[in-house]
Amino acid sequence: MRINRIQNQIRETEEESSKLVEDLSLIDLLIKKYKNKHGNLIPLLQGVQSIYGYIPRDAFFKLNKEVGLELSAMYGVATFYSQFRLNPVGKHIIKVCHGTACHVQDASKITDALMDSLKINDGETTEDNMFTLESVACLGCCSLAPVMMIGEETYGKLTNKSSVKVIKNIKIQESKATNKE
Ligand code: FES
Repeated sequence: MRINRIQNQIRETEEESSKLVEDLSLIDLLIKKYKNKHGNLIPLLQGVQSIYGYIPRDAFFKLNKEVGLELSAMYGVATFYSQFRLNPVGKHIIKVCHGTACHVQDASKITDALMDSLKINDGETTEDNMFTLESVACLGCCSLAPVMMIGEETYGKLTNKSSVKVIKNIKIQESKATNKE
């Protein structure tokens, strides 16, 4: 079952990543730093993700070739831990909490409102690569439920309207920044 899941992930990742060509030289320093270190798999995957925002398919192959890490071991870890992403993400990642406290405060309605406003499904990225919508577990501020996080910013006591308004404000700021350029 788990092997099938990993194989499906690999196939999806290949389809998605094949659309993008990342500059793999960006991870040369990272490889140099961790190449012969024991237990380097997770730090390497974390480092790759911090550079690209996700782990590109070709980065797995480069790590395999240059560090000697097994592809199956890397994919296994990357698909097991939710911190790792196998697909590109938007500039703003919207994390809507679906932990218990937020769930009972109708977090699903927040997600529905955002899906409606952004015209994407949960887990997807908008066409302009501006927003990625994600459902996550407890964000650690249950007294503010329902909660979402965008970047380092936490938004609490949300309603459908207020959550959509946050997104609209970010869009306004983005377009102002673009016009200034
Ligand atoms: S359950 Fe949402 S912040 Fe804890």
